[in-house]
Amino acid sequence: MQTQINGQGRAVASIPGVRPAHRNIPPRRWNGRLLLDGFCCAGGAGMGYHLAGYRVVGVDIADQPNYPFEFIHGDAVEVIAEYGHLFDLVHTSPPCQDGCTLTAGTNQGRTYPQLIPATRTALETTGRPWVMENPPGRAPMRRDLQLCGEMFGLSVIRHRNFEPGGGMTVDQPPHVPHRGRVAGMRHGQWFTGPYFAVYGQGGGKGTVAQWQDAMGIHWTTARRELAEAIPPAYTRWIGRAVAHLTRAA
Ligand SMILES: C[S@@+](CC[C@H](N)C(=O)[O-])C[C@H]1O[C@@H](n2cnc3c(N)ncnc32)[C@H](O)[C@@H]1O
Repeated sequence: MQTQINGQGRAVASIPGVRPAHRNIPPRRWNGRLLLDGFCCAGGAGMGYHLAGYRVVGVDIADQPNYPFEFIHGDAVEVIAEYGHLFDLVHTSPPCQDGCTLTAGTNQGRTYPQLIPATRTALETTGRPWVMENPPGRAPMRRDLQLCGEMFGLSVIRHRNFEPGGGMTVDQPPHVPHRGRVAGMRHGQWFTGPYFAVYGQGGGKGTVAQWQDAMGIHWTTARRELAEAIPPAYTRWIGRAVAHLTRAA
C-alpha cells in the first residue's frame, strides 16, 4: 500500500508501533477515509474495507504476519480507547468462542473471555461511527444487520450479525434463498453442493483452494485464518454504505 501523505497519514504516524503494510495487495482507489480494524486476525474484514476504498490499520493481540495492511500488535480495546477517535470508522470482530453456536460442542467445558461489553464501551468513547461483528449465537450484541454469503454470490453461507453504532446505519440486503447444501464428507461419502463449511481444521470440508475461492481470500493459505475470517464482500458492503453516509453528513 502506498503511504498517504496528508492529514490522515499524520494521524497514523502519531500512533506508536504501527507496522507498515505488505506490498502485494490489490490496488484500489482511496476514498480519503481511515479504518481501524479491531481484532483483525489475517484481515478478512480489513480487505473488504480496503476494497471499499479505506486506508486500513489493523490491531490484534497476536502477531499477524499475514495481515496485509498496516498493523498494531496490541490489545484492541486499549487501542480503540486511546486512538479510535483518529479514525473515520472503527470495525471490531471480538472473539466469538464464548457465545457462538458453531463452536458450542468443541468448546464445551472451557471458558473464554467475553470482550463485547468492554469493546462497545471503548467504541462509544471514540465519538466515531463503529460496527461490531459476531457469528449467530449468544453474543451480547444487537443484530441490526445480518449478512450471508449467498447475498454476494459466494460459496459459503456463513451468516454473520453486525451491530452498527456511533450514529451510523447500514442497509440490510434482502436474504437470498440458499441454493442447496454444504459440500463435504459425511459418513465416509463426499456430497457435492454449492457451499463449503469454512471452520475447524478442514479434512472433509474442502481443500484450502476451495476455501480461499469460497471466501474470496487469497493472501493466506492458513486454514485457521480462513476459518476465523469473514468474507471481504461483507465489509465491502458496509464500507460503501458508511462512506456514502459520511459524505452526505
Ligand atoms: C474472529 S478473529 C477476527 C477475524 C477477522 N475479523 C477476519 O475477518 O479475518 C478474532 C481475533 O481476535 C484476536 N484477539 C483476541 N483478543 C484480543 C484482544 N484483547 N485484542 C486484540 N485482538 C484480540 C484474536 O487473536 C483473533 O485474531
